[in-house]
Amino acid sequence: MCGIVGYAGRNQAASILVDSLKRLEYRGYDSAGISLFNGELATHKTVGKIADLEAIIPDDLDACIGIGHTRWATHGKPETRNSHPHVSGNVSVVHNGIIENYMMLKEELIEKGYEFKSDTDTEVIAHLLHQKMYASDKSIDLLTSMRETIECLEGSYAIAALCTDESEKIIFARKDSPLVIGVGEDGNYAASDVTALLKYTKDILYINDNETGTVSPDEIRVFGQDGNLIKKDIETVEWDIEAAEKAGYDHFMLKEIHEQPTSIQNTFAGKLLELEGNIKLDELYLSKEQIKYLRRATIIACGTSWNAGILGKYLFEKLAGIHTDIETASEFRYGNPVLCGEELTIAITQSGETADTLAAVRSSMSYGCKTIAITNVVGSTIARECDSVLYTRAGPEIGVAATKTFTAQLITLYMLAIHLGRSRNFISPDDAKKLIIGLKKLPGQVQKILNRKETIKECADIFADRRDYFFIGRYLNYPVALESALKLKEISYIHAEGYAAGELKHGPLALLTKDTPVVAIATKGHTYDKILSNIKEVKARDATVIAVADEDDTEIEKYADVVLRIPSSHELIAPVLSSVTLQLLAYYTALARDCSIDKPRNLAKSVTVE
Ligand code: AGP
Repeated sequence: MCGIVGYAGRNQAASILVDSLKRLEYRGYDSAGISLFNGELATHKTVGKIADLEAIIPDDLDACIGIGHTRWATHGKPETRNSHPHVSGNVSVVHNGIIENYMMLKEELIEKGYEFKSDTDTEVIAHLLHQKMYASDKSIDLLTSMRETIECLEGSYAIAALCTDESEKIIFARKDSPLVIGVGEDGNYAASDVTALLKYTKDILYINDNETGTVSPDEIRVFGQDGNLIKKDIETVEWDIEAAEKAGYDHFMLKEIHEQPTSIQNTFAGKLLELEGNIKLDELYLSKEQIKYLRRATIIACGTSWNAGILGKYLFEKLAGIHTDIETASEFRYGNPVLCGEELTIAITQSGETADTLAAVRSSMSYGCKTIAITNVVGSTIARECDSVLYTRAGPEIGVAATKTFTAQLITLYMLAIHLGRSRNFISPDDAKKLIIGLKKLPGQVQKILNRKETIKECADIFADRRDYFFIGRYLNYPVALESALKLKEISYIHAEGYAAGELKHGPLALLTKDTPVVAIATKGHTYDKILSNIKEVKARDATVIAVADEDDTEIEKYADVVLRIPSSHELIAPVLSSVTLQLLAYYTALARDCSIDKPRNLAKSVTVE
């Protein structure tokens, strides 16, 4: 997730762009840049925050039109050369989104003589715009070039572009990434969202997918996919700046839960090869031979990432036949691990900076193990130190409680397990295909859960005053139980325990009373009958059962007091849907208890100390 801005008007563009970018920093903050037209193209970019960009912009830069960008790296480390805008000759571009087919386009452009200066997917857009305007036999304007360029792109984008030959306007295009246009008195604006523009205007045009257009000081033109001019109504927003950063949500956590249809899509964008029944993981530096003879994998992580790792263990064993251990990083580093060089260590860490995880991975490196990092932060310490990095591409997460980064970790683990399983011929292309189809359905299914969130809120409100909560699940639903308990205790301060449902009878049943809600994750699969028996054990102790169950499950109501429904899905993939449901349960419980949801007491987003 990145932020883009543009301005064409009668005031100094640099200060407007910098100010607007500061408002978009929550969308990404590892590097930034601007391009302005002041007789020629003046581009300034740097690694760091917008304040660092501000420091390098000359005071005497006299320009009234420009574009800007704040970056959250997805392709290429946070380095100045990977920062936007990307320039091709006299064309400059900023982009938010992911171009899935950029590798193929890059090869074609290199053959045509274009030289790439960055590792980003975005640079292909700059060269394509330039090539279509200047290097083909026909002469076209920037808007036509943009239309032809987006025809070549697969993926998501909000783009703003400048060209010195059409210096009075900015050209924009949008598909699956947000873009708004601001209508001002001294000029007009483009931005990833209204937050960036509230200081200058509250009059907004919302751009839809497949629309393109131009922003000039006195005119805004929007065109549909068919090239026809569209008349858009101006909408006046009433938000203040803080509400706008949260896109109108009360908390970042709720916003981030709602971003999951998009973040999940971004995690697997360009990687699912449905027809071949395979996963494209070019970032994995493991040879076919190494994968074939892998004897053991060890997953190392903390907190939520560790819960994701338990699901990873089950998936690697089920889909790839690789014996997998899951280790808490803080324990592993002081234990006596028995490891050898042919083994694989997988570190899962959202931030890429967790001190215990880094230390544990370094320890496993000392045994000569190959290492893979699964992280959300490009260029983080873990990403720099491991042999391979799989980025989860969930975009920045501000709420301390991990939500969209957890589901992104799960999606990455599914993809890695399928890839390893196919490379070892452990699963058939058909079985892989079924999983891929299941993954592709997730964004829509998550959206369905979000649309029904009121039911989850009602349930949360009923039990918000309880002192203890239990979450139980079996097999793949066991890590969901652990993660859901962690989520609830972290933000609502209710004591919550996640348990393997079969373990209840070995002790914790003693704690159950009629006042204890027990959430049973009871999705269809080969342990379904077993969890029904566990629910009966719970009911026999008079506790209240909240079941998370498939929408076509007609049995469950006979057993549970409250049922939270999820769309029916592939048995192995249902944990993603149950997790989203229980993230909402935790959120609404904390809301009812008036807790500090985005910044829970005693916790930090990134735990860089032991
Ligand atoms: C998750 O909600 C927590 N904030 C916490 O458990 C977190 O997952 C843990 O600190 C590990 O962080 P990491 O993924 O950045 O390594």
